Amino acid sequence: MTDARQGLSGLLDTEAIRKDFPILDRTVHDGKKIVYLDSAATSQKPRQVLDALSEYYERHNANVHRGVYTIAEEATALYEGARDKVAAFINAPSRNEVIFTKNASESLNLVANMLGWADEPYRVDSDTEIVTTEMEHHSNIVPWQLLSQRTGAKLKWFGITDDGRLDLSNIDEIITEKTKIVSFTLVSNIMGTINPVEAIVRRAQQVGALVCIDASQAAPHMVLDVQALQADFVAFTGHKMVGPTGIGVLWGRQELLEDLPPFLGGGEMIETVSMHSSTYAPAPHKFEAGTPPIAQAVGLGAAVDYLSAIGMENIHRHEQAITEYAVRRLLEVPDLRIIGPATAEDRGATISFTLGDIHPHDVGQVLDEQGIAVRVGHHCARPVCLRYGIPATTRASFYLYSTPAEVDALVDGLEHVRNFFG
Ligand code: ALA
Repeated sequence: MTDARQGLSGLLDTEAIRKDFPILDRTVHDGKKIVYLDSAATSQKPRQVLDALSEYYERHNANVHRGVYTIAEEATALYEGARDKVAAFINAPSRNEVIFTKNASESLNLVANMLGWADEPYRVDSDTEIVTTEMEHHSNIVPWQLLSQRTGAKLKWFGITDDGRLDLSNIDEIITEKTKIVSFTLVSNIMGTINPVEAIVRRAQQVGALVCIDASQAAPHMVLDVQALQADFVAFTGHKMVGPTGIGVLWGRQELLEDLPPFLGGGEMIETVSMHSSTYAPAPHKFEAGTPPIAQAVGLGAAVDYLSAIGMENIHRHEQAITEYAVRRLLEVPDLRIIGPATAEDRGATISFTLGDIHPHDVGQVLDEQGIAVRVGHHCARPVCLRYGIPATTRASFYLYSTPAEVDALVDGLEHVRNFFG
């Protein structure tokens, strides 16, 4: 153990946790044990989730909401049971407020399209404004650009400070009486910044604007309480929270979901259909056209069980300790510049950095040769890179299975990168 690790507290029993994640035993490049530091892109999956998926397919596979036979009823109960689990996990007042989508991008596009087709008082048109931030993942920028182009609504955004926080100094000019929707990320996927939800929600409520929160990088890592957030919509994805790919969630306030129009039409989202018109099923089914991602929802339910058994407070505490340690150790590396908050406070377990003038793709490749998996590039948040005048970053992101030894491996790996490039 290095001296720097002395005094780290709040860590989970990663030795036990890692036994649940078969992939963490993998080796690459002639026997180098994998050091997986890319959980912000996607998390690894525990055996419990893998088992739930195969058990679903081996024993219960059938389409949902249709069958009168036993396994179809079992599949429906498992799918709807997953909705109950997610509702409890995010403290939703009603299970009917949980819509299953394909991923967080689809959830955010769904909100943009609901508003684009809505009648008053939600209607977005050329007299109205949409607000987002420069810190967003592209999935919380592009849907709003599309909506703005289609409706003529003005798209506005909050900038970012030099130290990677949202610049709210002009909040009263950005969010105005014309604002229809304010959509922002709870935790930055590139810099790890945790944003001040309360200040933004308060201002949005003053002017009667709706609030949509992208919680993709929050739901896996901290307690997510949609009632405490006081937002109108919250979007997140399953694959970053030890669940499978192909399943996302949109939580929305019930009265909004009742009022707002569907986006996709098709089977299962209707009440009646004639050749002239249709009426729609109540939420959430109104927003779940076609055969849904059944197995993936069941897998997400198992993921929620897994995370809940460990406890989101405990996971958050573990990640805070790892992040504090990682920030401290990374700042010891010569020429390393953290992009975003260079402190351990108010930040999640995702750290982007540059290393002198070595291109992040070269950094990533030399780290990979040592078995260390990081993401390099603009991380689908190119406006952040533009803001700091850099083409790309190297990003290390940690999760409940990450260890201080893996932080040390990263730091040693970066020394190797520096030596390699002279
Ligand atoms: N949204 C994922 C990331 O930030 C893919 O890496």
